[in-house]
Amino acid sequence: MQRIAVLTSGGDSSGMNPAIRAVTRKAIYHGIEVIGIKRGYTGFIEGEMSLLNLGSVADIIQRGGTMLFSARSEEFRTPEGRKKAFENVERFGIQGLIVIGGDGSFRGARQFHKEFGLPIIGVPGTIDNDIVGTDYSIGFDTAINTVVDAINKIRDTATSHERTFIVEVMGRDTGFIALTAGLAAGAESILIPEKPFSINDICHKLMQGHKRGKLHSIILVAEGASDSFDVASQIKEKTGFDTKVIILGHLQRGGAPTAYERVIGSCMGAKAVELLRNGEVLKMVGMQAGKIVALDIEDSALKKKPIDMDMYDLANILSI
Ligand code: F6P
Repeated sequence: MQRIAVLTSGGDSSGMNPAIRAVTRKAIYHGIEVIGIKRGYTGFIEGEMSLLNLGSVADIIQRGGTMLFSARSEEFRTPEGRKKAFENVERFGIQGLIVIGGDGSFRGARQFHKEFGLPIIGVPGTIDNDIVGTDYSIGFDTAINTVVDAINKIRDTATSHERTFIVEVMGRDTGFIALTAGLAAGAESILIPEKPFSINDICHKLMQGHKRGKLHSIILVAEGASDSFDVASQIKEKTGFDTKVIILGHLQRGGAPTAYERVIGSCMGAKAVELLRNGEVLKMVGMQAGKIVALDIEDSALKKKPIDMDMYDLANILSI
């Protein structure tokens, strides 16, 4: 194998840069050239790509975002779009591709491999941590640390004003960010799409806490669980508590990657190169029981990752 390419696709996540750095330097170490494709599948279709060298990936390990930019490409969903991308594979002499992204990006990768046979390795990169098979996706640790840091700050003002805060976090239709950050931040209630909730139960818990002298409460809502403003107005109506909403939004996607993120991003990026060198043609890098492993990308594209209900129950018990 003489030349491979790397791209980042879908929602960016902190830790993508360390992964790009690892792919590039590990490949060059083995005498393989690396092409960086800009703007995900959009740049793949439009031929926005150039050779990376050791210096191209210098000074990025500590930066959030992705030096290759990212996009969600509608055109890559079409056979015409994918055909254009394959013309670039031939034009640039690409013999293998590493896709850093989420399950949508992997679905595209799988389809492309089926049609054109190009060896492709996926590296899980999404703050949502919702990819089936892998315990961890690049970006999750930085995102939950950002959420916890934000909640610490919100608690200060919530205490001063004796308020209830609804904190909305990302996660699309999953609750991994909400549950993990909620446990870490000691949120009073955590609302996730995977578990139906009752406003009456939440209000009962709030009032019990208030009776015991709690000065404030934090309710963490995953974006896919409910409308935060609706939750706030129902709580206000039923309890009379001063209730505010804060939507953390895209700040969860930015920021310097944590040390853990940099280590895992580096290990996963390097593993992807190793898999291509070993002749794998369609795999995903993942983490299982703390080890970086090769997984079947088919599973990740077709199934839904289950949430840890024991962790959910524990968060409930501890937040009494
Ligand atoms: O998948 C990552 C994610 O940040 C989700 O949590 C969120 O729902 C979505 O992307 C937002 O996408 P966009 O940046 O396109 O608004």
